[in-house]
Amino acid sequence: MPNNQQSLFNFDNTTQELRNKTLQEVQNVCNYCYKCDLSKTRTKVVFGEGVLASKIMLIGEGPGQQEDNSGRPFVGKAGQLLDKILQTQDFSREKNIYICNIVKCRPPENRTPNDKEIKACRQYLDAQIQIMRPEIIILCGATAVKSMLEIKSGITKIRGQWFNGPFGAKMMPLLHPSYLLRNQSKAEGSPQWLTLQDIKRILDEL
Ligand code: URA
Repeated sequence: MPNNQQSLFNFDNTTQELRNKTLQEVQNVCNYCYKCDLSKTRTKVVFGEGVLASKIMLIGEGPGQQEDNSGRPFVGKAGQLLDKILQTQDFSREKNIYICNIVKCRPPENRTPNDKEIKACRQYLDAQIQIMRPEIIILCGATAVKSMLEIKSGITKIRGQWFNGPFGAKMMPLLHPSYLLRNQSKAEGSPQWLTLQDIKRILDEL
């Protein structure tokens, strides 16, 4: 971790204030979005949270039940595991990372969002990236990989590799924490161990 936390942030104060304001406006629009059927069953829109000026954005799939109830991303069991893993490398949404999802509303029964829903929600994610300009984008799980990379390779094959992203960002796929929850081993070569190595590589890149 860099000694100086400032080095994890991108912009001077004035620029950052403007960006925060613009992002808030996008969030206000998103909160009243009815572009797809997920709006009919959602409780709360889950726009994203964390440090707005961070160089790192993590993108997951979509809200689950606890996220839908609270309006916050990754707060269920998978999210708690994600927080724990990130914290081993001094990453957290309170200090230095921004977390959001491909779709901002919960798909019923936690099913994978379909192409129509992903497409309808894409303008919000694009706006988040365009406004925040993260240098590193972590693609958490297969849905994030499929929508951002548009490739069909399985996530276990491409996790930990760097890909070119929007506005010069570098993107790295990571195994989804729900998958890690089902594979609790921390032994060398296990999914949790591999994820830790991937996060260390992100730290090295910074
Ligand atoms: N919670 C989220 O916010 N996103 C996911 O992808 C999974 C759980």
